[in-house]
Amino acid sequence: MSEILVLYYSQGGAVRDMAQLIARGVESVKGVKARIRTVPKVSTNCEATEPDVPATGAPYAELKDLQECIGLALGSPTRFGNMAASIKYFLDGTTSLWLKGTLVGKPAAVFTSTGSIHGGQETTLVSMMLPLMHHGMIMVGLPYTEPELSSTTSGGTPYGASHVGGVADDRPITEDERKLCIALGKRLAETALKLAA
Ligand SMILES: Cc1cc2nc3c(=O)[nH]c(=O)nc-3n(C[C@H](O)[C@H](O)[C@H](O)COP(=O)(O)O)c2cc1C
Repeated sequence: MSEILVLYYSQGGAVRDMAQLIARGVESVKGVKARIRTVPKVSTNCEATEPDVPATGAPYAELKDLQECIGLALGSPTRFGNMAASIKYFLDGTTSLWLKGTLVGKPAAVFTSTGSIHGGQETTLVSMMLPLMHHGMIMVGLPYTEPELSSTTSGGTPYGASHVGGVADDRPITEDERKLCIALGKRLAETALKLAA
């Protein structure tokens, strides 16, 4: 069974819930399974360490997850219009894979959640694409043939799936956002299967 790595960081749970929907889209494609992984929180306090195994939720990602999977969905909350440090920190540790060209030619998709509607979803999604393109990955976005891209009044962009959580981060994922998460996972899995054939 071919696998797609759904790798995310989430503090409040919004991006975690999106990851579950992306995984649902991935697994709607016959012959593809989603491997869900997260990354530890990093801190400006250098003495702080996280346990080896998270108390709840997805296991922490290892480099072998990137190696073994045929595609990657990468999710992060927006932090000042950019990806969260925890995701960037994990990516900065992938040099050995970059040197070997392990990810060259594999497809990738990105997703994010913001507090506000114009709080930097697109810049965050594009910032997440940059290191993946250095790795030689092929970006998969959302085309306007997905009707929800035009009907949404909250998240959902051609660059990847997104969600507007609200200032209190208490807005549920809307039906349009949900459908676009699933569509992105499905599109990524279909592309990965074709590229791996
Ligand atoms: C340090 C920090 C920076 C943030 N920067 C932004 C931002 O630039 N734009 C925005 O709309 N929301 C911003 N937010 C809000 C989060 O992106 C938003 O709450 C998101 O839905 C959290 O996802 P999560 O529930 O998966 O952790 C920020 C939150 C924190 C803690």
